[in-house]
Amino acid sequence: MSHYQVEGNDPCDWTDWESAGRTRGGPCGRAAGSWERYEEDAEAAASLGANAFRFSVSWSRVEPRKGKFDEAALERYARLVVRLDALGLEPVVTLLHYTHPRWFHAETPWTSTASVDAFARFAARTARALGPKARCWTVLNEPLVLVLGGFLDGQVPPGIASASDAARALDHLLAAHEAAAAQIRAAVPGAAIGVAHNMMGFAPERARNPFDRALVSVANRFYNQTLLDAFGEGRWSAYLPPFTRFAGKRPGLPASLDFFGVNFYSRLHLRFLGDGGRIGSFAYRDPLGRGLTDNGWEVVPEAFLPLLRQAASLGKPLLVTENGLADAADTKRAAFLEFHVAVLQAAEAEGLPVHGYLHWSLVDNYEWLDGWEPRFGLLELDRETLARRERPSARTFRRLASGYLGRPLPSRQGR
Ligand code: BGC
Repeated sequence: MSHYQVEGNDPCDWTDWESAGRTRGGPCGRAAGSWERYEEDAEAAASLGANAFRFSVSWSRVEPRKGKFDEAALERYARLVVRLDALGLEPVVTLLHYTHPRWFHAETPWTSTASVDAFARFAARTARALGPKARCWTVLNEPLVLVLGGFLDGQVPPGIASASDAARALDHLLAAHEAAAAQIRAAVPGAAIGVAHNMMGFAPERARNPFDRALVSVANRFYNQTLLDAFGEGRWSAYLPPFTRFAGKRPGLPASLDFFGVNFYSRLHLRFLGDGGRIGSFAYRDPLGRGLTDNGWEVVPEAFLPLLRQAASLGKPLLVTENGLADAADTKRAAFLEFHVAVLQAAEAEGLPVHGYLHWSLVDNYEWLDGWEPRFGLLELDRETLARRERPSARTFRRLASGYLGRPLPSRQGR
């Protein structure tokens, strides 16, 4: 779960984005009310047989004014950690899941080096408050997605559309990861530090067309490989035609990472256009005839294994930090779970270091620009009463969790 998508009533840059009419799906509002119901959610996860619970800390709650920390907010997350531990759920803590405090973009934006210190301070305070039981950290959620949406197409906050700003923002986000990792390690002995990276399958729209195939390799290189290079070698050079290049060097990054988190959902089909302005088009398709998800994504576990192999080339333990689908009627989720867990077993059989699987998501949540339409939950949310009810596929999750999935995460292994 991520804070903004479930907690409710958390004024931040996204709230302002919604009020300015920049989302398609309306406001987040009370969300799933998890700020008051986290313990209930934790109990539901435990009753599904989960042994881990991923959540994110709202920076805007914890530091509503620059340098002024809200102890009650920190304490609230600390209580959640205690409860998770008591329930046998490993807390997996994310520090940046897309939203920022209202002051952030004006005072210490990601395009400035001041962002790194600001984030490190927030990380240090949070790590100290959450204490020794919070050992598993996915510091940043999908930094590249944030950079592309927030700094290159300007579709999400802060709404900038500039390739040079995007390149700078990525560099500072990675520096912030490194600085935060040092703070967390100082505060939490034995902490395992990771990142959650969105990895996407790409396929040529016309299987034999050399231009479509070339586009696939450019897209894979840019979207999937950039962070692997950054965390593997401490340098990256990513090209997005026609004019965008992100390049940088952070030699300390590899040592700041203990495991690599993979968020996997779907696959895009690419077609070369080459008409000057647009190099290519991309779309979700359903060549395997499984039916698209409610938000139009292909269900394609076949694309998962190659991406896990690619991620494993980093040489670090892998954790699947997100995988799921929008399926309000719950007609596809059980099979989706079975397919993807079978891929994990195949990955493990060939020696890939997959250490765990976190399903996205426990409860229906606010889907950013798409609002409340897509329903990702194993638990269905009643938007009026905020009551949760298990969808039938929760039974499949429970069965899988009692076997293959019920194993320890990287932070518990040999540390
Ligand atoms: C994001 C989640 C989101 C999910 C489904 C991921 O990329 O981290 O916040 O809910 O995709 O859209």
